[in-house]
Amino acid sequence: MARAIATLGIVGTGVMGVGIAQIASTAGLKVRLFDARDGAATDAKERLRATFATLVAKQKIEQGVADDALSRLVPATDIADLADCDLVIEAILEDLAAKRQLIADLENIVAPDAVLATNTSSLSVTAIARACRKPERFAGFHFFNPVPLMRVIEVIPGFHTSAEVTTALLSLAERCGHRGVLAKDTPGFIINHAGRAFGTEALRLVEEGVADFAAIDRILREGAGFRMGPFELFDLTGLDVSHPATEAIFEQFYGDPRYRPSYLAQQRVVASQLGRKTGQGFYNYGQGSPMAKARDALPPMPIPPVWIGRSAHFDTAALIRLVKTLGGRIDEGAASSEGSLILVAPLGDDATTVAYGARLDARRVVAIDLLTASDRHRTLMTTPATDPAFAAAALTLFSGDAAGATLIRDSMGFVAQRVVAMVVNLASDIAQQRIASPADIDDAVRIGLGYPMGPLSWGDSLGPATILRLLERLNALSGDPRYRPSAWLRRRAQLGLSLLAEG
Ligand SMILES: NC(=O)c1ccc[n+]([C@@H]2O[C@H](COP(=O)([O-])OP(=O)(O)OC[C@H]3O[C@@H](n4cnc5c(N)ncnc54)[C@H](O)[C@@H]3O)[C@@H](O)[C@H]2O)c1
Repeated sequence: MARAIATLGIVGTGVMGVGIAQIASTAGLKVRLFDARDGAATDAKERLRATFATLVAKQKIEQGVADDALSRLVPATDIADLADCDLVIEAILEDLAAKRQLIADLENIVAPDAVLATNTSSLSVTAIARACRKPERFAGFHFFNPVPLMRVIEVIPGFHTSAEVTTALLSLAERCGHRGVLAKDTPGFIINHAGRAFGTEALRLVEEGVADFAAIDRILREGAGFRMGPFELFDLTGLDVSHPATEAIFEQFYGDPRYRPSYLAQQRVVASQLGRKTGQGFYNYGQGSPMAKARDALPPMPIPPVWIGRSAHFDTAALIRLVKTLGGRIDEGAASSEGSLILVAPLGDDATTVAYGARLDARRVVAIDLLTASDRHRTLMTTPATDPAFAAAALTLFSGDAAGATLIRDSMGFVAQRVVAMVVNLASDIAQQRIASPADIDDAVRIGLGYPMGPLSWGDSLGPATILRLLERLNALSGDPRYRPSAWLRRRAQLGLSLLAEG
């Protein structure tokens, strides 16, 4: 098998088919385009003509490159015109029966050693392959939208796919300038699987009343470094797309609570509050960008002395320096003086657990997240007993420089600790299930989801033992097996190994 791939067929010239055609024709492949809708393949070429013209105008590519790429795009009026293709990728609607029918039809058209591939996001590659007489020639070749910018492609062999086909697709991905990653045929493959942690944990925080959408988005964007907050992302993707995807993965993993969808998303789907496309999602898009809203300045107020609780996890000397830099006074007593703000820095525990365990006066306790605190953003958390005057004083103190600060209600693991721990844990579990190599998981998630770091590298940079401790506390305090640490993470944390370590 594995003939050289020079001519590519694309069936389905919608959003994905056109994107695939763009990168493949630019990479030098001849591309035959076919769509069931009359005129759609020709329209696709016209759309690409405009895209190439824009790229030339913006000096992203040279005129000659654009002309060559365009000349390699050939619309087909009959599916039989794909007969000389070395590889055909289907990017038609996401329907098992339709894809099976198409693959069966294609097998009667292409050469015996031609490769067939599906761009499915949510169907099993092996299930589609049931339609093939020669399933060894068929694999998943999963692109991300927008294809030219999302430079990663998952290659997913089905149960019967030959090694030559897998290798050919991986090298084609590289030829198109994308990172090819190898994934087992499992629900969500790598990226859509790993991506469940971010959104579902953010929804969980709202369900628990920890903070509102905007506060969670701000903390994760400014404090944790995500490009976009989860609720901004839901609104961009549309809940009609992301919620069913979460439900499907939850069901395909037989109800594993790690993937549990939220009634909050379901309610919005029912109410047609899908996001940007309906003008209303978690945010209202009626009057300009909701993110542009400036935060209200805090009124000046007297700040009480700050007594800092002992921490087994963080360098409190750095916290003392920060408080002093912000103009705060330190209460240096062995115990806090009456009237001092009590500042604690938990890892995984909520503020109440710390106050209760150390017999602190909960009315004066405010917790600060030192794990994900950055010079850009700080998260503060109260107990249910915290006097609002102390909460306001803490917020004022920690908003005293260029960094922002957000006050949340009591939560195991604040917001960012929880979300990052879940991202790392899910990626660890994908490694544990041997769905992909640690390096492929790390690259796929970083590129495909635009996270600031690969999730396993992120876990390494925060410390596997730190992430383990976080998850153990989340698991213990919530009683929710959603937070059970992956064996991959636990073993590497206990042995002092990197999360990228195979074995
Ligand atoms: N849109 C995304 O973000 C995304 C990302 C990754 C994968 N995918 C997957 O890619 C595939 C295509 O998605 P899309 O968003 O491009 O869809 P789309 O609706 O934009 O395009 C689908 C195209 O397929 C054509 N079509 C439908 N049935 C056909 C058939 N039997 N034969 C030939 N053409 C047919 C339609 O006319 C349409 O032009 C789906 O399997 C989807 O799950 C989509």
